[in-house]
Amino acid sequence: MTNDDKSLETAVLDALRSVEDPDLHEDIVSLNFIKDLKIEGDKASFTIELTTPACPVKKEMEQWAREAVLKVNGVREVDIQMTAAVSRGTTAEGTQAIPGVKNIIAVGSGKGGVGKTTVTVNLAIALAQSGASVGLMDADIYGPNVPLMMGIAGRPNAVDERIQTLSNYGVRIMSMGLLTADDTPLIWRGPMLHSVIQQFIRQVDWGELDYLLIDLPPGTGDVQLSLTQTVPLMGAIVVSTPQDVALQDARKAILMFRQVRVEVLGIVENMSYFQCPKCNERTHIFSHGGGQTTASNYEVPFLGEVPINVSLREGGDAGKPVVAMNPEAPESQAFAKIAEQVAVQVSIINLRNKDTMVIE
Ligand SMILES: Nc1ncnc2c1ncn2[C@@H]1O[C@H](COP(=O)(O)OP(=O)(O)OP(=O)(O)O)[C@@H](O)[C@H]1O
Ligand SMILES: [Mg+2]
Repeated sequence: MTNDDKSLETAVLDALRSVEDPDLHEDIVSLNFIKDLKIEGDKASFTIELTTPACPVKKEMEQWAREAVLKVNGVREVDIQMTAAVSRGTTAEGTQAIPGVKNIIAVGSGKGGVGKTTVTVNLAIALAQSGASVGLMDADIYGPNVPLMMGIAGRPNAVDERIQTLSNYGVRIMSMGLLTADDTPLIWRGPMLHSVIQQFIRQVDWGELDYLLIDLPPGTGDVQLSLTQTVPLMGAIVVSTPQDVALQDARKAILMFRQVRVEVLGIVENMSYFQCPKCNERTHIFSHGGGQTTASNYEVPFLGEVPINVSLREGGDAGKPVVAMNPEAPESQAFAKIAEQVAVQVSIINLRNKDTMVIE
């Protein structure tokens, strides 16, 4: 490398300092996103390594970087590779992380039947479509609906005493429902449940995962509390519908997670509105804006709205989730946006925890 190349390299890095990640509020050089910077004559090439492949401003970031570097005197050509390395979450004290699994996220709701499983399933697929490696654990021992909604069946294999996941739509799946006979009502009691889930989640061979979503049973009782304390969670998502009763229970769910020091990544409002397929008019069947208001009252992010939609219900019943079958549909796009927001919150929290972590 010549001296000229060296000074050009410094100039390029300086230029890249003007590009800020709008969610993490730091420039992409300080964030350590720039890798493999090379100068060859008047050509600068480098990689931008984001904290998630589901970054909502991936294209913009590339364009901002290109524009900034092209302003540098002596650079006429820019070659940028975009990649991502998802950051690893920290877990609450007393829980042991699962090697290979970077971020475990619980999905909870105060109330049953708000569409928690529908949201979890479609969200997992949307995250996988962004390029992330994603797992989905069905911890709803009372109504394990994930196998049905993800279109999987059959008993999982064990290899070297580790339970192998089943996969569909790019997501690794495990459910308590796969290990018990059909329609057997499951009656678990506190301490037993605690150890069963603990053992279960650790015995599964998850491989390397960026995000592992956990579908919790609905409600905020002992079972849910016990589960959230057992599993090494980095955060939680609360699903609600817009009407008052559901929101009241969503508040309980937020407080439950806070009680066990699990960070709430935000609220997803399901069945937010009906969009007429003929005239595109939106009708707010269960009132409007409640999820957003609850989010701001409790100072948690609002992650987005999912419309009430017949293909979401039919896709769930048939094991053909709409995000997998028809990614361009408006309801699938709603999930893609929510997936981005979830990924952003994970990145923000992980960055913040890294900054405050004491290095011993
Ligand atoms: N946005 C939606 N549009 C249309 N139907 C939906 C939507 N969300 C969920 N549903 C339907 O509502 C029903 C309940 O959804 P789901 O099973 O996902 O809820 P849940 O909160 O997981 O319920 P449970 O408390 O029983 O676990 C299902 O039939 C599902 O297909
Ligand atoms: Mg469910």
